[in-house]
Amino acid sequence: MKLSIIGTGYVGLVTGACFAEKGHHVICVDNDSAKVKVLRGGGIPIYEPGLEELVSSNVAAGRLRFSESTAEGVASSDVVFIAVPTPPQPDGSVDLSFIERVARDIASAMTSYKIVVDKSTVPVKTGENVTETIRRYCRAKVDFDVVSNPEFLREGFAVEDLMKPDRIVIGVGSQRPVAAMREIYAPFDAPIIVTDINSAELIKHAANSFLALKISYINAISAICEASGANVQEVANGIGMDTRIGRRFLDAGLGFGGSCFPKDLSAFIKIAEQLGYDFRLLKEVQRINAEQMDRFVKKIADTLWVLRDKKIGVLGLAFKQNTDDVRVSPAIELCQRLLKEGATLRVHDPKAMEKAKAVLPPSDKVAYVDDMNAVAEGCDALVVATEWPQFKKLDLDGARRALTHPILFDGRNLFDVKEMESLGFIYKSVGR
Ligand code: UGA
Repeated sequence: MKLSIIGTGYVGLVTGACFAEKGHHVICVDNDSAKVKVLRGGGIPIYEPGLEELVSSNVAAGRLRFSESTAEGVASSDVVFIAVPTPPQPDGSVDLSFIERVARDIASAMTSYKIVVDKSTVPVKTGENVTETIRRYCRAKVDFDVVSNPEFLREGFAVEDLMKPDRIVIGVGSQRPVAAMREIYAPFDAPIIVTDINSAELIKHAANSFLALKISYINAISAICEASGANVQEVANGIGMDTRIGRRFLDAGLGFGGSCFPKDLSAFIKIAEQLGYDFRLLKEVQRINAEQMDRFVKKIADTLWVLRDKKIGVLGLAFKQNTDDVRVSPAIELCQRLLKEGATLRVHDPKAMEKAKAVLPPSDKVAYVDDMNAVAEGCDALVVATEWPQFKKLDLDGARRALTHPILFDGRNLFDVKEMESLGFIYKSVGR
């Protein structure tokens, strides 16, 4: 099918590349001309495993191209996907102005029937506003359908998640766009559920909030484990084997971050409030998440006593493994908290160092270290802040010798408690 995707962020670019890989003809549009130039030149503005190869092979096959013009995208496609940012606002609601702008641009470019699909994460009832906006601004007065098709990919696993989705959700206001939507997703071999638009929009917020709730739940359990001497990983394994609960997203740590969970929780709480429901359960999820970081910082301070002028090595800056994304990264927050207390840092991340430099304050108190095994050099303690699997291969003997004191705070429970103790570390992890 002929598809256009407006917005080449994580969701837009990966979606476009995967649709092309499945044989559709895709034009990806972005109004950032510098970004389009990079993409046309074969560059990828984000790090996402497998994406670069997917983009280049599909560009070479003539199924994927890039443009700055929404009008060109609309003219050359039957189905137009909106995948633009919906950034948070100070009051917790989301800024829908990019969606509105794109809806107007699409409307004014439409000269024949189009299906306009919202892929951006939006609060329930946004589809109604998009429909009304297109109706108002469509000069040609042609028919159209608005569809809600939320995306469930995780950064760092985006290509994998998109190519092998658990389910496809299609929210429609009429039956007319259903066949085309099914055709787009037929090659993905995933169950498709067709709902009304409001339900589809709610599914996205409800799914992300539930996953965040699961993380806060296990983080709350981790506090009880620490107080009682139990082990949170054993508890997670034990409850996770109940298929009604499931083991995934039960890893205790520094709390969840990223551009999705924190924002979506706030947005869901806000839209619920506007609809007359006080979502106190989710407010508690937020509170536990903030508290988890406080508890970890306290653990470091309790052990090292005064942090001023202490040198601390930090492994990980990205908000999670497999990504260079540092937006709302717990690792970055931890660095900021340590810096505020007067510590100096030696930091390393396999992919996120450049992006971290842009968000951490420029300071002679932060040294960016290319080799993870060199981070501990001369430090008073080492901290694991991101769950990169390669950190498990850290030269622990070398780290212990390089540290002035063999203290390791593991915010992601990457190492085995007994092994660390037998290696001579003072080892503090989360909930164990
Ligand atoms: C999340 C959802 O998982 C996706 O399904 C969704 O499509 C996406 O948001 C979105 O709305 O676009 P993402 O933010 O990329 O994906 O990353 P996750 O893998 O969900 O991790 C989020 C945070 O939770 C990270 O900081 C991670 O370290 C933390 N986490 C995750 C835990 O602390 N414990 C866990 O067990 C799992």
